Amino acid sequence: MRFMPEPQTATEVTAELLKEKIRSRTARVGVVGLGYVGLPLAVEFAKAGFSVTGIDLSDDKTRRVNAGDSYVGDISTATLASLVEAGKLRATTDFSAVLELDTINICVPTPLRKTKDPDMSYIVSACQEISRHFHAGMLVILESTTYPGTTDEVVLPMLAKSGLEAGRDFFLCFSPERVDPGNPKYQTANIPKVVGGVTAACTEMGRLFYAQALQTVVPVSSTQVAEMVKLLENTFRMINIGLVNEIALMCDRIGINVWEVIDAAATKPFGFMPFYPGPGLGGHCIPIDPFYLSWKTKQAGIEARFIELAGYINGQMPHFVADKVQGALNDAAKPVKGSRIHVMGVAYKRDIDDMRESPALDVMMLLERRGGKLSYSDPHVPTLRVEGLNLTAQPESAAAEADCVVIVTDHSSFDYKALVERAALIVDTRNALKGIRSGKIVRL
Ligand SMILES: NC(=O)c1ccc[n+]([C@@H]2O[C@H](COP(=O)([O-])OP(=O)(O)OC[C@H]3O[C@@H](n4cnc5c(N)ncnc54)[C@H](O)[C@@H]3O)[C@@H](O)[C@H]2O)c1
Repeated sequence: MRFMPEPQTATEVTAELLKEKIRSRTARVGVVGLGYVGLPLAVEFAKAGFSVTGIDLSDDKTRRVNAGDSYVGDISTATLASLVEAGKLRATTDFSAVLELDTINICVPTPLRKTKDPDMSYIVSACQEISRHFHAGMLVILESTTYPGTTDEVVLPMLAKSGLEAGRDFFLCFSPERVDPGNPKYQTANIPKVVGGVTAACTEMGRLFYAQALQTVVPVSSTQVAEMVKLLENTFRMINIGLVNEIALMCDRIGINVWEVIDAAATKPFGFMPFYPGPGLGGHCIPIDPFYLSWKTKQAGIEARFIELAGYINGQMPHFVADKVQGALNDAAKPVKGSRIHVMGVAYKRDIDDMRESPALDVMMLLERRGGKLSYSDPHVPTLRVEGLNLTAQPESAAAEADCVVIVTDHSSFDYKALVERAALIVDTRNALKGIRSGKIVRL
C-alpha cells in the first residue's frame, strides 16, 4: 500500500480538496467571456468530463450556447450541441453562478484606448462581478492578453478584498491564450499552455488544472513571466511582419519580386523563418498587444523603439495598397475617381469571419475617399456596416464588372483561376495568384 501523508495545515487541506476535485474532474469549471478564446476553452474542459458554466454579458451568446448553436468557426455546432445535451456545458449572464464554481478562467477583451493605452475596463468589471460571489478554495486564471503585472497589481487586490489569501485560501494564475482561429492543425487542446501563479502553490494548481484537458502545460515562475511570454510572442510576429513589409516596399521600389525572394530565403534550413508582407495588420492581437508592452515599459523609462517603428511601417501598408491600386488604374488610363473597385476578402485573415482591425477596412476607406466605387466578395462576411461603409457581399462573378480587383484576404474558397479570366486588372496583396502569369496582375 502506498504511503500518503495526511495534509497538515489549513492551506494544505484547501489545496488538497481542490486538487482532488480537479483530478476527479468533479471541479465545477467557469469561463468568463465566451468569445473566440473562451468558448473553445469551455468546450475543451467539457469534453474532458468537467461540468462547465460559461458566463458572458451577451444574451445572444449565452442563448446560442444553450441552444447548442456555435458562433465560433473552430467549434462545430454538432460538438457544442452534444456537450450541451449531455449537461456538460451551459451558459448564463448571471455572475451569481460563481458561488457554485471551483475554477474560473477569465477570457474577456483587452483592446486599446484611442490613445493606444491599455483598456483594462473589461478585466476590472469581470473581476468586480467575480469578487461579489468569490469564496475560498477557488482557482482563478486570467487568460486575457495584458501587460506584465496585471494579475498581481489589478486582479489580486480585487480578489484579496474578500480577506482570503492567494496561495493559501485561493489560487491565482495568469495563462496566455495562443489560439489561432482557423488553424486546422493547432487548436486549444494541442497548443502548449504556459501558466504562472502568484505563488508556487498557485502555479501547481494551474498546471494540474490545464493538464486535465490540454496536451502540454509549461509552468513558469511567476504571473509576470507568463504575461510577458505572450507579449514576446506577438511582438516577435509584429516586428518581423514590419520588417518584411519594409523589405516589400524596398523590393517594389527597385523592381524585385519580394515573394520570390522570401520563398528562396526560406529554403535555408536554419536561422531564417519566413514572414510575408500584406495589406497591413489585423485581428485582436498582433496590432494591439505590443502596445500593451510599450505602454508598460514607457513607465519604466524604456522606449519600445522596435514596436513603434514596426507599428509605423505596418500602418503604412493600407496606404501603399491604395497607391498601388491607383497606380494600376492610372496605367490603364482610368482615374480612380469613378472607377469600380472590387475587393476580394475583407476578414482580417484567410478562412475566418473576424473583421476586427481588418486592413481591408482601411484599404476600402482610402479608395472610397479617392472617389472609387467599392464592392466586395467574402464568403465569411455577408455584410459590411462599419465606419461609413454600408455594403453587402457580392458573388465572385461581380469581379467581371470592376475596373480593378484587389485581393486583400486570400480565402481558400475563392476560384482564383476564374478570377484571372474574368477580371480586367488585379492587384494581389497576398501572392494568392502565385505561379499565374498574366499582364493583368500587379503584385505587392
Ligand atoms: N481571438 C484570438 O485569436 C486571441 C488569441 C490569443 C489571445 N486573445 C486574447 O484573449 C482575450 C479574449 O479575446 P477574444 O478574441 O476571445 O474576445 P471576444 O471579443 O471574441 O470575446 C470576449 C467575450 O467576453 C465577453 N465579455 C466582455 N466583458 C465581459 C464581462 N465583464 N463579463 C463577462 N463577459 C464579458 C464579450 O461579450 C465576449 O463574448 C483578449 O485579451 C485577447 O487579446 C485572443
